[in-house]
Amino acid sequence: MDLYLLLHSVLMHISAAIVILVYIPLSIPVKLFVWAFVKPLRKEDLRGKVVLITGASSGIGEELAYQYAKKGACLSLVARRKHALEGVAAATRERGAPDVLVVPADVSDPEQSRRAVEETVAHFGKLNHLVANAGAWSISFFDEITNITAFTKMMATKAAQVRFYETLRSELGSEVGVTILTAGFVESEMTKGKAIQRDGEVAVDEEARDVQIGVFPVARVEKLCEAALNIIRRGDWYVTWPSLYLTLPLIACLAPEVLTWQSYALYNAKKGTPPLSQRMLDATGAKRFYPPSLRSHPGIKTDKTGDQREEDDAASNV
Ligand SMILES: NC(=O)c1ccc[n+]([C@@H]2O[C@H](COP(=O)([O-])OP(=O)(O)OC[C@H]3O[C@@H](n4cnc5c(N)ncnc54)[C@H](OP(=O)(O)O)[C@@H]3O)[C@@H](O)[C@H]2O)c1
Ligand SMILES: *[C@@H]1O[C@H](CO)[C@@H](O)[C@H](O)[C@H]1NC(C)=O
Repeated sequence: MDLYLLLHSVLMHISAAIVILVYIPLSIPVKLFVWAFVKPLRKEDLRGKVVLITGASSGIGEELAYQYAKKGACLSLVARRKHALEGVAAATRERGAPDVLVVPADVSDPEQSRRAVEETVAHFGKLNHLVANAGAWSISFFDEITNITAFTKMMATKAAQVRFYETLRSELGSEVGVTILTAGFVESEMTKGKAIQRDGEVAVDEEARDVQIGVFPVARVEKLCEAALNIIRRGDWYVTWPSLYLTLPLIACLAPEVLTWQSYALYNAKKGTPPLSQRMLDATGAKRFYPPSLRSHPGIKTDKTGDQREEDDAASNV
């Protein structure tokens, strides 16, 4: 058995050596050629294509819906807030989407996700792009969480998604393209401070948001979506935008301890002093570079109609 393991270990090391010494040097010129001369010519025509976007009621999903609409795609818009989706749907029709379906659904419930896809296919007769964008943010430290049940939802998001889609890509082969988008901070309801709090409730906390973002740049959502849609149409496997964040996986691979130290240093508060991230933000005044939508107070969409809001106001005035 030991010998059998040793044999495998030797073979794996030889494979790694072949990849590093032979495959990578030979593939670099081919990849550069494809990147410079082939990719720019490959632009999927989106006219009449059916695109399902989850999390289309605000932020990145909403802006992607507008950009797909401008390219003539038909849309199926999924999120929980029905009225917000209807507002987005109307705006996508104005921007040129020939047919738009609104499907209110909670994608953390497998049955509701299934229904969203089935209703889309029943309506349009096909599905060309699935944009799995819905997600939530949490800015709490793990040991401050008081309701852990509410955080199980987070475990399907983030890093788990990347591994999930990479596995799916190797199962699907070339039949279905998978583009994985990882983004830096972008203006949306999330970066306005909307996050799952330690008790599991969703609320807006601008101060916690300031600490989390600190001096990092927050990009305009249109810019991200423009770049993302171009790359999706080109069929790339990965998009990291803005590209400055490409350095992070490199550091994580070569010196993972640096990222851990950096996060610890930036976000942990010592008794009586605010976290370094907050102090850097205050000292540099970098907040003036946040997009205007983040500097003016929240403006998170509720899912109430005008009438319901008036009723609520009337009730709260009593
Ligand atoms: N903004 C950033 O800086 C940033 C950076 C990297 C990655 N991201 C990712 O980008 C994605 C979009 O976020 P965003 O920044 O655009 O924030 P956002 O404005 O808060 O949008 C989140 C969207 O997801 C929907 N959603 C959340 N939970 C859902 C559920 N259980 N079922 C159905 N829909 C749900 C929300 O709609 P309802 O509340 O109506 O359901 C909303 O449309 C997220 O996956 C996020 O992790 C954002
Ligand atoms: C904890 O969160 C779960 C899921 O969001 C919720 O169903 C439950 O009622 C919460 N428990 C408490 C004590 O708030």
